[in-house]
Amino acid sequence: MSEVFKGSFTQQEPIPEEGIEAAIAVMRSGRLHRYNTVPGEVAETALLEQEFAALLGVKYCLAVASGGYAMATALRAVGVKPGDQVLTNAFTLAPVPGAIAAVGAVPVFVGVTENLVIDLDDLAAKVDQADVLLLSHMRGHLVDMDALMAICDASGITVIEDCAHTMGAAWNGVASGTQGKVGCYSCQTYKHVNSGEGGLLITDDAEVAARAVMLSGSYMMYEKHLAGPPKEAFETIRYETPNISGRMDNLRAAILRPQLRDLEARCERWNERYFEIEKGLRDTPGLMVIERPEKEKIVGSSIQFLLKGWSAEAVDEVLKRCLKRGVELKWFGGAEPIGFTSRYDSWRYVDAPKMPESDKVLAGIVDIRVPLTFSLEDCALIARIIKAEVSTVYQAAH
Ligand SMILES: Cc1ncc(COP(=O)(O)O)c(C=O)c1O
Repeated sequence: MSEVFKGSFTQQEPIPEEGIEAAIAVMRSGRLHRYNTVPGEVAETALLEQEFAALLGVKYCLAVASGGYAMATALRAVGVKPGDQVLTNAFTLAPVPGAIAAVGAVPVFVGVTENLVIDLDDLAAKVDQADVLLLSHMRGHLVDMDALMAICDASGITVIEDCAHTMGAAWNGVASGTQGKVGCYSCQTYKHVNSGEGGLLITDDAEVAARAVMLSGSYMMYEKHLAGPPKEAFETIRYETPNISGRMDNLRAAILRPQLRDLEARCERWNERYFEIEKGLRDTPGLMVIERPEKEKIVGSSIQFLLKGWSAEAVDEVLKRCLKRGVELKWFGGAEPIGFTSRYDSWRYVDAPKMPESDKVLAGIVDIRVPLTFSLEDCALIARIIKAEVSTVYQAAH
């Protein structure tokens, strides 16, 4: 009898008791709106922002309704206007080009390498097409950030980092999200902290922070922020920045604060699971493990491998065989976008030229979620199943 995995790839851990209690206290108070405080009270949302800014060692933080909202707000706050072109990854998730479209701007896609990071040669070739790069650390893979910042600094490109998959990660000891002008994070259920929906935006730039606060809908209550810029930063922009409401509420912030305090430990647990799967996948014929650079501190909340040069039929066969044994693989090379696996040519509101080199990589990317509800034994089992099925299909074809 072949082994079957019985767990769920989408089951997150419960909210910590401390978060549940804090959420109940917020509900009992009735003051869920971030600016609805009694004298002397500091809102959970303001505390969350203060704590996240301290965790990353940055000046300003704003909590918002989603990661996508954080990115669109960041684009507006750095001055992107309708019709502008914005560079971004060909390999990312739909909310990234979606944020660019939300501000009326036009994505210009930059290719992906076999290490699943943005292609720096392609980036260097396209720097004259835009003033802003919305850089997605897709599936937690960090490009050589020193090299990327050198290219962007030399060309005057403003970098906004999409850290939906890299909260807690670092490049060469520098926290992900702190190298660009703005870092954007998601607190949606499958991310590293879970409030169902939610986002965080960080920056050291007072004007960008003030614009973001006004955009998110602070009315004129920005002085209630603990991690906001000084009052003077709002002097002129408060009249010229539209209110595009997307605030976070106190209930979500209450749930998130204890999770943030535990972030480091949670990241270690993800990595134990990630490396257990990676270990099991190594030396599988036809399967390429993505080697992680030494300078990268990862948070392994998902794992990818490449079936490079495989036919679509053969990859499909692997997917089917694994699914029969309870292992749900996601494939970025499928003919149709399914769930989260869309790619640059799925977003047809953009008139994007074909990218043959990236297409070759995308055609082979297979992805697995790694929730913390998996035990290490689960991870070893999942890897054994994938290894067996990939080997079978590979050997039949060779
Ligand atoms: C790579 C990436 N960027 C950004 C986001 C946006 O996050 P949200 O769903 O909070 O808008 C997601 C969410 O799925 C994502 O996967």
